[in-house]
Amino acid sequence: MKICVLPGDGIGPEITDQALKVLLTVAEKFGHAVELDEQRIGGSAIDATGVPLPEETVEACKGADAVLLGAVGGPKWDTLDPAIRPEKGLLGIRKALGLFANLRPAALFPQLRSACLLRPDIVERGVDLLVIRELTGGIYFGEPRGVEVRDGERTGFNTMIYRESEVRRIARVAFEAARKRRRKVCSVDKANVLDVSRVWREVMVETAAEFPDVELSHMYVDNAAMQLVRDPSQFDVLVTGNLFGDILSDEAAVITGSIGMLPSASLGESGPGLYEPIHGSAPDIAGQDLANPLATILSVAMLLRYSLGLEEEARTVERAVERTLDQGLRTGDIMEPGKARVKGSEMGAAVLANL
Ligand code: IPM
Ligand code: MG
Repeated sequence: MKICVLPGDGIGPEITDQALKVLLTVAEKFGHAVELDEQRIGGSAIDATGVPLPEETVEACKGADAVLLGAVGGPKWDTLDPAIRPEKGLLGIRKALGLFANLRPAALFPQLRSACLLRPDIVERGVDLLVIRELTGGIYFGEPRGVEVRDGERTGFNTMIYRESEVRRIARVAFEAARKRRRKVCSVDKANVLDVSRVWREVMVETAAEFPDVELSHMYVDNAAMQLVRDPSQFDVLVTGNLFGDILSDEAAVITGSIGMLPSASLGESGPGLYEPIHGSAPDIAGQDLANPLATILSVAMLLRYSLGLEEEARTVERAVERTLDQGLRTGDIMEPGKARVKGSEMGAAVLANL
């Protein structure tokens, strides 16, 4: 397996370091050869080359079976020209690889029940949902966009736009995913206000006809934000556009207790997928070996499953993580009384031992 590694900024290098050890160990155990190719992205790429996504990085990713990414961004680059911000590197690689489907599972680990932010009676009903976010369209990429002076005042504008082919392909990903789960898809939009959402909803309904065994419902995004905290157990698969998905996936993640636990996969029609923790670069704790590497380690499991079709290897990684939690090891973000507080590298070492 040829893996392109993009450690990025902040805690990115330390968490990818731990995750790569897990990848190499599980590969060795099952007799797979791994070739790693490390490349620059984000702020560290800006520092070294002047741009957040060097051409060399794009080429290396295209030539790999899968890409593992840490995180990008930090205060150091916040004041740069928006065209060369670290985030542009992330948006650029998603677009360059055609990664239109972003899978962000949010499930409660039984071991971390008390870390959940919701009331115990709500937690009791369980949280096990999958946010599927459209990742290469919508308002993130829509044209026209810009800042200009109109009638003597500064005016900023973006365009939220979806073509029906873009909606149909993300709809299919959602229905297919639901077939492997509890067969329920909730499509989130703002069809009571936005024209773009009316097309979104129409195409969702049309595509549902191809999947008669899956139940489709619709929810406005404001209500969805509320229902996620009121009763997350009602959701199986949530499918939504780029901006709504950005917001709702953070919300879904944090209610599980720690955003430091959740992985993600970004997939295209073909070609390599990209795997990354859903959390950011956490510049406040970078370089101190405090960051929880489990989200990145679980991203390795998704990489094995979705890009390489190695289900048993993926499950092996997930079981090693579960056992590590069973043993009571906790980084600061998931710490609770009576547990053992460990450093990021100690958490990584424990997962390796459990492998
Ligand atoms: C995410 C992040 C990115 C996004 C940023 C860093 C560009 O918030 O992956 O959710 O908005 O997509
Ligand atoms: Mg986000």
